[in-house]
Amino acid sequence: MILKTEQDLIDFGEQIGKALFPGALITLKGDLGAGKTTLTKGIGKGLGVTKIINSPTFTIMKEYQGEMMLHHFDAYRLEGEDSELGFEEIFEGEGVCVVEWPQYIEHILPEERLDLVIYKCMDQGREILCTPFGEKYVTLAKELEL
Ligand SMILES: Nc1ncnc2c1ncn2[C@@H]1O[C@H](COP(=O)(O)OP(=O)(O)OP(=O)(O)O)[C@@H](O)[C@H]1O
Ligand SMILES: [Mg+2]
Repeated sequence: MILKTEQDLIDFGEQIGKALFPGALITLKGDLGAGKTTLTKGIGKGLGVTKIINSPTFTIMKEYQGEMMLHHFDAYRLEGEDSELGFEEIFEGEGVCVVEWPQYIEHILPEERLDLVIYKCMDQGREILCTPFGEKYVTLAKELEL
């Protein structure tokens, strides 16, 4: 899927947010500035979060109250660390989790998830590749026509 503008990315995120179920996990990959946080802003909108969502790089995780809790992770600063972080319970919980840079905390992430990779195109547009892992996420991807 190709999304031309930042607003398109937010709108797409909003659709995802509206379709999520309790305990859902979305992993977001892509280079610095690809649009992972932008997409998360849309997901939050779809979940009814009213606070402004911004990058949790320095705190690793931020929580927002919407129709379901949104736990927004940015694991960028955890590259190369495999220390105990205490986040496991959050991934087992009822809230929705969105994880930027999931590569760096793969050892604590559940296998079942919707994995999205955002690529920058030549013209500011973004291409998104989606891979669902697990039955619930296959259904979600179909629902979103991904
Ligand atoms: N089509 C587009 N979709 C999304 N963002 C775009 C687009 N075109 C330009 N941008 C810009 O790209 C940037 C995306 O930043 P964002 O913080 O969402 O990236 P990120 O993937 O979260 O980066 P990081 O890895 O640093 O967390 C924003 O500054 C946004 O204005
Ligand atoms: Mg980000």
